[in-house]
Amino acid sequence: MLTGRVAGKVALVTGAASGLGAESARRLAREGAAVVLTDRAAEAGQGLADEILNAGGKAHFLTHDVTSPEDWARVVETTVQTFGRLDVLVNNAGIAMTGLDLMTHSLEAWRQTLAVNLDGVFLGLRYCGPAIAAGGRGGSVINLSSILGKVGSAGAAAYSASKGGVLLLTKSAALEWAPLNIRVNSIHPGYIDTPMVAQVLHNAENGNEARQMIIGRHPLGRLGEPREIADAVVFLASDESSFMTGGELVIDGGYTAQ
Ligand SMILES: NC(=O)c1ccc[n+]([C@@H]2O[C@H](COP(=O)([O-])OP(=O)(O)OC[C@H]3O[C@@H](n4cnc5c(N)ncnc54)[C@H](O)[C@@H]3O)[C@@H](O)[C@H]2O)c1
Repeated sequence: MLTGRVAGKVALVTGAASGLGAESARRLAREGAAVVLTDRAAEAGQGLADEILNAGGKAHFLTHDVTSPEDWARVVETTVQTFGRLDVLVNNAGIAMTGLDLMTHSLEAWRQTLAVNLDGVFLGLRYCGPAIAAGGRGGSVINLSSILGKVGSAGAAAYSASKGGVLLLTKSAALEWAPLNIRVNSIHPGYIDTPMVAQVLHNAENGNEARQMIIGRHPLGRLGEPREIADAVVFLASDESSFMTGGELVIDGGYTAQ
Protein backbone atom coordinates (compact mmCIF):
# COMPACT_ATOMS: atom_id res chain seq x y z
CA MET A 1 0.00 0.00 0.00
CA LEU A 2 1.20 3.52 -0.79
CA THR A 3 1.71 5.78 2.21
CA GLY A 4 2.59 9.45 2.47
CA ARG A 5 0.93 12.75 1.66
CA VAL A 6 2.03 12.65 -1.99
CA ALA A 7 2.28 8.88 -2.44
CA GLY A 8 1.95 7.73 -6.05
CA LYS A 9 2.71 11.15 -7.49
CA VAL A 10 5.68 11.98 -9.74
CA ALA A 11 7.26 15.36 -9.00
CA LEU A 12 9.88 17.36 -10.91
CA VAL A 13 11.88 19.88 -8.87
CA THR A 14 14.21 22.36 -10.60
CA GLY A 15 17.20 23.88 -8.81
CA ALA A 16 17.11 20.81 -6.56
CA ALA A 17 20.84 20.74 -5.77
CA SER A 18 20.69 23.46 -3.11
CA GLY A 19 18.58 25.35 -0.57
CA LEU A 20 14.81 25.31 -0.96
CA GLY A 21 14.80 22.95 -3.96
CA ALA A 22 16.92 20.37 -2.12
CA GLU A 23 14.74 20.45 1.00
CA SER A 24 11.57 20.28 -1.11
CA ALA A 25 12.88 17.25 -3.03
CA ARG A 26 13.80 15.50 0.26
CA ARG A 27 10.37 16.11 1.78
CA LEU A 28 8.41 15.19 -1.34
CA ALA A 29 10.34 11.89 -1.48
CA ARG A 30 9.80 11.27 2.24
CA GLU A 31 6.05 11.77 1.70
CA GLY A 32 5.99 9.12 -1.01
CA ALA A 33 6.53 10.94 -4.32
CA ALA A 34 8.93 9.74 -7.01
CA VAL A 35 11.12 12.81 -7.50
CA VAL A 36 13.07 13.97 -10.53
CA LEU A 37 15.70 16.41 -9.32
CA THR A 38 17.19 18.78 -11.88
CA ASP A 39 19.91 21.42 -11.66
CA ARG A 40 22.91 22.87 -13.48
CA ALA A 41 25.03 21.66 -10.54
CA ALA A 42 25.41 17.97 -11.39
CA GLU A 43 27.59 16.75 -8.51
CA ALA A 44 25.45 18.18 -5.71
CA GLY A 45 22.22 17.18 -7.48
CA GLN A 46 23.36 13.58 -8.02
CA GLY A 47 24.55 13.49 -4.38
CA LEU A 48 21.09 14.42 -3.11
CA ALA A 49 19.39 11.92 -5.42
CA ASP A 50 21.71 9.21 -4.00
CA GLU A 51 20.85 10.34 -0.44
CA ILE A 52 17.12 9.96 -1.19
CA LEU A 53 17.65 6.55 -2.84
CA ASN A 54 19.74 5.35 0.13
CA ALA A 55 16.93 6.43 2.48
CA GLY A 56 14.53 4.19 0.52
CA GLY A 57 12.94 6.93 -1.61
CA LYS A 58 12.48 7.20 -5.38
CA ALA A 59 14.71 9.77 -7.10
CA HIS A 60 16.43 10.46 -10.39
CA PHE A 61 18.81 13.35 -11.13
CA LEU A 62 19.11 15.11 -14.50
CA THR A 63 21.36 18.02 -15.50
CA HIS A 64 19.21 20.90 -16.64
CA ASP A 65 19.53 24.56 -17.49
CA VAL A 66 16.01 25.97 -17.06
CA THR A 67 16.67 28.63 -19.72
CA SER A 68 17.09 25.94 -22.41
CA PRO A 69 13.99 24.65 -24.27
CA GLU A 70 16.03 21.65 -25.48
CA ASP A 71 16.91 20.74 -21.90
CA TRP A 72 13.25 20.98 -20.86
CA ALA A 73 12.18 18.68 -23.71
CA ARG A 74 14.79 16.07 -22.66
CA VAL A 75 13.94 16.36 -18.95
CA VAL A 76 10.20 15.88 -19.50
CA GLU A 77 10.75 12.94 -21.88
CA THR A 78 13.15 11.23 -19.45
CA THR A 79 10.79 11.83 -16.51
CA VAL A 80 7.90 10.12 -18.25
CA GLN A 81 10.18 7.28 -19.46
CA THR A 82 11.57 6.77 -15.94
CA PHE A 83 8.48 7.11 -13.75
CA GLY A 84 5.61 6.75 -16.25
CA ARG A 85 3.90 10.11 -15.70
CA LEU A 86 4.25 13.65 -14.30
CA ASP A 87 1.93 15.11 -11.66
CA VAL A 88 3.81 17.91 -9.90
CA LEU A 89 6.20 20.60 -11.15
CA VAL A 90 8.16 22.75 -8.70
CA ASN A 91 9.63 25.72 -10.63
CA ASN A 92 12.25 26.53 -8.01
CA ALA A 93 15.54 27.31 -9.83
CA GLY A 94 16.42 30.96 -9.49
CA ILE A 95 19.24 33.46 -9.18
CA ALA A 96 19.52 36.69 -7.18
CA MET A 97 21.64 39.69 -8.09
CA THR A 98 21.54 42.52 -5.58
CA GLY A 99 23.31 45.84 -5.14
CA LEU A 100 22.50 46.80 -8.75
CA ASP A 101 21.64 50.46 -9.20
CA LEU A 102 19.21 51.20 -12.05
CA MET A 103 21.37 54.21 -13.03
CA THR A 104 24.16 51.82 -14.02
CA HIS A 105 22.43 48.40 -14.30
CA SER A 106 23.72 46.36 -17.23
CA LEU A 107 21.28 44.98 -19.77
CA GLU A 108 23.17 41.69 -19.47
CA ALA A 109 22.42 41.33 -15.73
CA TRP A 110 18.78 42.25 -16.38
CA ARG A 111 18.43 39.65 -19.14
CA GLN A 112 20.24 36.94 -17.17
CA THR A 113 17.93 37.39 -14.18
CA LEU A 114 14.77 37.43 -16.28
CA ALA A 115 16.01 34.43 -18.31
CA VAL A 116 16.41 32.15 -15.29
CA ASN A 117 13.68 33.45 -12.99
CA LEU A 118 10.89 34.19 -15.48
CA ASP A 119 11.68 32.48 -18.82
CA GLY A 120 12.61 29.39 -16.79
CA VAL A 121 9.15 29.28 -15.20
CA PHE A 122 7.43 29.92 -18.56
CA LEU A 123 9.40 27.05 -20.14
CA GLY A 124 8.52 24.79 -17.21
CA LEU A 125 4.83 25.44 -17.77
CA ARG A 126 5.17 25.16 -21.55
CA TYR A 127 6.99 21.79 -21.52
CA CYS A 128 5.52 20.12 -18.41
CA GLY A 129 1.93 21.23 -18.94
CA PRO A 130 1.24 18.82 -21.82
CA ALA A 131 2.86 15.93 -19.91
CA ILE A 132 0.80 16.60 -16.77
CA ALA A 133 -2.38 16.93 -18.85
CA ALA A 134 -1.61 13.64 -20.62
CA GLY A 135 -1.75 11.85 -17.26
CA GLY A 136 -5.46 12.65 -17.17
CA ARG A 137 -5.81 13.15 -13.42
CA GLY A 138 -4.90 16.82 -13.01
CA GLY A 139 -1.80 18.00 -11.21
CA SER A 140 -0.07 20.79 -9.33
CA VAL A 141 2.48 23.40 -10.38
CA ILE A 142 4.29 25.33 -7.65
CA ASN A 143 6.21 28.44 -8.66
CA LEU A 144 8.80 29.94 -6.31
CA SER A 145 8.24 33.68 -6.40
CA SER A 146 9.30 35.81 -3.42
CA ILE A 147 8.16 38.58 -1.11
CA LEU A 148 10.11 40.64 -3.65
CA GLY A 149 7.45 39.63 -6.20
CA LYS A 150 4.95 41.56 -4.11
CA VAL A 151 7.00 44.52 -2.85
CA GLY A 152 9.97 46.28 -4.40
CA SER A 153 13.57 46.30 -3.22
CA ALA A 154 16.16 49.00 -3.94
CA GLY A 155 19.13 47.37 -5.64
CA ALA A 156 17.19 44.29 -6.78
CA ALA A 157 14.98 45.67 -9.55
CA ALA A 158 15.56 42.81 -11.99
CA TYR A 159 14.98 40.18 -9.29
CA SER A 160 11.78 41.90 -8.12
CA ALA A 161 10.51 42.34 -11.69
CA SER A 162 11.17 38.66 -12.42
CA LYS A 163 9.37 37.50 -9.27
CA GLY A 164 6.44 39.88 -9.87
CA GLY A 165 6.21 38.34 -13.33
CA VAL A 166 6.05 34.88 -11.77
CA LEU A 167 3.12 36.00 -9.58
CA LEU A 168 0.91 36.92 -12.57
CA LEU A 169 2.19 34.16 -14.84
CA THR A 170 1.00 31.82 -12.07
CA LYS A 171 -2.49 33.32 -12.00
CA SER A 172 -2.81 33.24 -15.81
CA ALA A 173 -1.75 29.59 -15.94
CA ALA A 174 -4.15 28.77 -13.09
CA LEU A 175 -7.06 30.21 -15.10
CA GLU A 176 -6.06 28.43 -18.32
CA TRP A 177 -5.58 25.07 -16.65
CA ALA A 178 -8.41 25.03 -14.11
CA PRO A 179 -10.62 23.05 -16.56
CA LEU A 180 -7.88 20.37 -16.60
CA ASN A 181 -7.71 20.33 -12.78
CA ILE A 182 -4.06 21.36 -13.01
CA ARG A 183 -3.63 23.75 -10.10
CA VAL A 184 -0.98 26.49 -10.27
CA ASN A 185 0.08 28.43 -7.17
CA SER A 186 2.99 30.65 -6.14
CA ILE A 187 4.98 30.70 -2.91
CA HIS A 188 6.41 33.97 -1.59
CA PRO A 189 9.15 33.31 0.95
CA GLY A 190 10.74 35.98 3.12
CA TYR A 191 14.51 35.65 3.61
CA ILE A 192 15.32 31.99 4.20
CA ASP A 193 18.70 30.69 5.38
CA THR A 194 20.03 29.15 2.14
CA PRO A 195 23.24 29.46 0.11
CA MET A 196 21.48 32.17 -1.98
CA VAL A 197 20.99 34.43 1.04
CA ALA A 198 24.48 33.58 2.37
CA GLN A 199 25.87 34.79 -0.97
CA VAL A 200 23.82 38.01 -0.88
CA LEU A 201 25.13 38.71 2.63
CA HIS A 202 28.67 37.78 1.59
CA ASN A 203 28.48 40.36 -1.22
CA ALA A 204 27.18 43.08 1.12
CA GLU A 205 29.68 45.63 2.44
CA ASN A 206 29.19 44.56 6.05
CA GLY A 207 27.69 41.05 6.05
CA ASN A 208 26.90 40.89 9.78
CA GLU A 209 25.17 44.26 9.85
CA ALA A 210 23.26 43.39 6.70
CA ARG A 211 22.12 40.11 8.27
CA GLN A 212 20.84 41.91 11.40
CA MET A 213 19.13 44.53 9.22
CA ILE A 214 17.36 41.82 7.19
CA ILE A 215 16.37 39.91 10.34
CA GLY A 216 14.94 43.17 11.72
CA ARG A 217 12.53 43.40 8.77
CA HIS A 218 10.90 40.10 9.78
CA PRO A 219 8.57 40.64 12.77
CA LEU A 220 9.20 37.05 13.90
CA GLY A 221 12.80 38.16 14.48
CA ARG A 222 14.73 35.57 12.48
CA LEU A 223 15.37 34.23 8.99
CA GLY A 224 13.20 31.33 7.82
CA GLU A 225 14.43 27.75 7.54
CA PRO A 226 14.24 25.76 4.27
CA ARG A 227 11.88 23.28 5.97
CA GLU A 228 9.33 26.06 6.44
CA ILE A 229 9.08 26.49 2.66
CA ALA A 230 9.45 22.79 1.78
CA ASP A 231 6.45 21.96 4.02
CA ALA A 232 4.37 24.40 1.95
CA VAL A 233 5.61 22.77 -1.26
CA VAL A 234 4.41 19.38 0.01
CA PHE A 235 1.03 20.90 0.97
CA LEU A 236 0.56 22.45 -2.49
CA ALA A 237 1.72 19.25 -4.22
CA SER A 238 -0.69 17.13 -2.21
CA ASP A 239 -4.45 16.74 -2.50
CA GLU A 240 -4.73 18.60 0.83
CA SER A 241 -4.72 21.81 -1.26
CA SER A 242 -7.22 20.49 -3.83
CA PHE A 243 -9.38 23.68 -3.87
CA MET A 244 -6.40 26.03 -4.13
CA THR A 245 -5.34 27.47 -7.48
CA GLY A 246 -4.03 30.89 -8.55
CA GLY A 247 -3.12 31.43 -4.90
CA GLU A 248 -0.15 33.26 -3.41
CA LEU A 249 1.19 31.58 -0.32
CA VAL A 250 3.18 34.17 1.65
CA ILE A 251 5.62 32.65 4.16
CA ASP A 252 7.66 35.56 5.38
CA GLY A 253 7.70 35.90 9.18
CA GLY A 254 5.44 38.94 8.81
CA TYR A 255 7.74 40.88 6.41
CA THR A 256 4.92 42.04 4.11
CA ALA A 257 2.33 42.50 6.88
CA GLN A 258 3.75 45.90 7.79
N1 LIG B 1 16.35 31.92 0.06
C1 LIG B 1 15.49 32.89 0.08
O1 LIG B 1 15.50 33.74 1.00
C2 LIG B 1 14.44 33.04 -0.98
C3 LIG B 1 13.41 33.96 -0.76
C4 LIG B 1 12.42 34.12 -1.73
C5 LIG B 1 12.46 33.35 -2.88
N2 LIG B 1 13.48 32.47 -3.08
C6 LIG B 1 13.48 31.72 -4.33
O2 LIG B 1 13.52 30.34 -4.05
C7 LIG B 1 14.23 29.64 -5.07
C8 LIG B 1 15.34 28.81 -4.45
O3 LIG B 1 16.23 29.70 -3.77
P1 LIG B 1 17.42 29.17 -2.81
O4 LIG B 1 17.54 30.16 -1.75
O5 LIG B 1 17.22 27.74 -2.50
O6 LIG B 1 18.66 29.37 -3.81
P2 LIG B 1 20.03 28.52 -3.96
O7 LIG B 1 20.96 29.47 -4.64
O8 LIG B 1 20.42 27.91 -2.68
O9 LIG B 1 19.60 27.36 -4.97
C9 LIG B 1 19.20 27.65 -6.29
C10 LIG B 1 19.52 26.46 -7.19
O10 LIG B 1 19.11 26.82 -8.52
C11 LIG B 1 20.10 26.34 -9.41
N3 LIG B 1 20.07 27.13 -10.65
C12 LIG B 1 20.41 28.43 -10.83
N4 LIG B 1 20.28 28.75 -12.12
C13 LIG B 1 19.84 27.65 -12.78
C14 LIG B 1 19.52 27.36 -14.13
N5 LIG B 1 19.66 28.27 -15.10
N6 LIG B 1 19.07 26.12 -14.43
C15 LIG B 1 18.95 25.18 -13.46
N7 LIG B 1 19.26 25.38 -12.16
C16 LIG B 1 19.70 26.61 -11.84
C17 LIG B 1 21.42 26.52 -8.67
O11 LIG B 1 22.43 25.69 -9.22
C18 LIG B 1 21.01 26.13 -7.25
O12 LIG B 1 21.20 24.75 -7.02
C19 LIG B 1 14.72 30.73 -6.05
O13 LIG B 1 13.82 30.85 -7.11
C20 LIG B 1 14.70 31.97 -5.18
O14 LIG B 1 14.59 33.15 -5.95
C21 LIG B 1 14.46 32.31 -2.15
